[in-house]
Amino acid sequence: MADRIRIYEVGPRDGLQNEPGVIPMAGRLELIRALVAAGLRDIEVGSFVSPRWVPQMAGSAEILAGIDLGNDVNFAALIPNMKGWEAYAEAIAPLPRIPGEVAVFISASEGFSKANLNCSVAESLDRIAPVVDAARAAGVTVRGYVSCVTDCPFDGPTDPALVARAVAGLRALAPMQVSLGDTIGRGTPDTVSAMLDAVLAVCGPGNLAGHFHDTTGLALANVEASIAAGLRTFDSSVAGLGGCPYAPGAPGNLDTGALVDRCMALGFETGVDRAALDRAADIARGLRAAA
Ligand code: HMG
Ligand code: MG
Repeated sequence: MADRIRIYEVGPRDGLQNEPGVIPMAGRLELIRALVAAGLRDIEVGSFVSPRWVPQMAGSAEILAGIDLGNDVNFAALIPNMKGWEAYAEAIAPLPRIPGEVAVFISASEGFSKANLNCSVAESLDRIAPVVDAARAAGVTVRGYVSCVTDCPFDGPTDPALVARAVAGLRALAPMQVSLGDTIGRGTPDTVSAMLDAVLAVCGPGNLAGHFHDTTGLALANVEASIAAGLRTFDSSVAGLGGCPYAPGAPGNLDTGALVDRCMALGFETGVDRAALDRAADIARGLRAAA
């Protein structure tokens, strides 16, 4: 049997958070349903951040309440602090099952940490520590993100040692998969490989994921460099939606369709139904056009 690549779909969160307009709830739910129908089993559906910072993700509690939980899909949500955790816990209390993982996020670089979270890297770790504890106590799995793993829009190239330190900082809180974010899509196979060399000294490849934005068209090459280093989980976004509102120059995430095609060409299985994914991509493009 062919090796498997796990595709972690982030379009309904990382994609839609970057649209200029707020997408209506019905559209967000229609997109999530289409992604489930396409066979995706890890889907980040929203975030519990300040609606003043990211108005596009307001209403994520209604998203969790509106999705069909009668399946084995991991419907993940991003949480920045205890206020976000409390809102999340309240949202999931009446649901028939825990919808999925919560993702906590920090930056490798100080400039982006300040722009995205309004605090230093060390302060952000202090802020998420109680979120990790509360989630684990509630039986919720935690995922971590480190942003700006090769380049920062404010601080320039990122020292790989800072990324290794950030990954170790997250994993000192609890065992978790850490997704390595090339937030502005400036990474190259060389800088990604150098970064992974440093990170693999503190964390095995099975606990890492690659999260590449496709600003310069190198996201797939960066996936291949990561596969060579042993990674088997990659984040991507249907129709290449995405970016980050606090990272100037971060347009699209790696397109899920392109990732599926490259995985197949390399001999990996993904479990994704390509025709159904195209239908989801049409919905995503329709939502973007209407935003
Ligand atoms: P702050 O302004 O320093 O926070 O923001 P604060 O504690 O002073 O609170 C300010 C206001 O926000 C208060 O409301 C709080 O109650 C409220 P007010 O009294 O003024 O009316 N507030 C909240 N409301 C709802 N939910 C919350 C929450 N927390 C505070 N959880 C804060 C700090 C962390 C809140 C803010 O910086 C924030 O929300 N940042 C999130 C930014 C974001 O979502 N960025 C995109 C996601 S990260 C990303 O895309 C990268 C990734 O894809 C990987 C990669 O590509 O690198 C993951
Ligand atoms: Mg991102």
